[in-house]
Amino acid sequence: MIDHYAVVGNPISHSKSPFIHRLFAEQTGQEMHYRAELGDPNQFESQVLRWMALGLRGLNVTLPFKERALALATHPSFRAQLAGAANTLRFVPDTTEIEADNTDGVGLMRDLQDRLGIQLKGKSILVLGAGGATRGILGPLLEAHPQQVVLTNRTESRGIALVSAMQSALSSQSLVFLSQSELVERSEGFDLVINATSSSLSGAIPDLPPNVWVHQPIAYDLAYAPKGDTAFMSLARERSARQCSDGLGMLVEQAAEAFYWWRGIRPETDSVLFKIRNMLATQ
Ligand code: ATR
Repeated sequence: MIDHYAVVGNPISHSKSPFIHRLFAEQTGQEMHYRAELGDPNQFESQVLRWMALGLRGLNVTLPFKERALALATHPSFRAQLAGAANTLRFVPDTTEIEADNTDGVGLMRDLQDRLGIQLKGKSILVLGAGGATRGILGPLLEAHPQQVVLTNRTESRGIALVSAMQSALSSQSLVFLSQSELVERSEGFDLVINATSSSLSGAIPDLPPNVWVHQPIAYDLAYAPKGDTAFMSLARERSARQCSDGLGMLVEQAAEAFYWWRGIRPETDSVLFKIRNMLATQ
């Protein structure tokens, strides 16, 4: 019998997850079917329970349901709890158990460290944004022992609240919040600047003082543009960033981690990333 999986979100038609997971299944010879489901904000929980009762083995969860997916879980992982959100669920057949994980942070780390060859130990990192995307990546980033992770956010109170929650959850001294004006006064530059705001989705760029770019940092945008650079990457190139990347590699890596958790087999990701870039370029 074929095992069934799905991704749920709203909207969902843009999701690349079915494409990615079908390539993984083909490549690893796994007998599975993966579909996209439109989530209903009024009855997300009952939708999930119904799919589970029908025998679904696992679910990827995207906006705006990641927090609700975590709340549904009977067995959430530490990293999902830390992120306050789950992007992957696993259902234990013939039980009511729902396991939840968040593979976004580990996906970013694999893309940064393994694919792009960026070492984070001892480095100085600036993270822009204080929403769900930032919550998902802070734990894994801090585990890589950077010298410091500075977080800044347009709405200061939100940034301060996230940093203090993370500082106490992780007992970390390496994470600090800096306001825009504190950032202007900081004399040292950064080795890596990560855009975890949703600004790229609207083609906007977060406001940043010039001193952020003095060391020609690497720039990484968690978002991606269908073709070419995101607005943040264009700005970073203008400011002479030494290397720029979008988040398509992270997308493929977080999917690979979910696939591994479900199927116990780790797919090769370079060829899948290559195919998805080609697909986007010709769309
Ligand atoms: P996500 O789950 O994608 O992180 P979110 O929780 O809505 O989405 O958070 C969006 C983040 O992007 C926030 O940090 C937001 O800043 P505010 O807290 O000030 O709203 C940030 N953001 C969105 N558009 C932005 C823009 N044009 N400039 C700067 N920051 C922006």
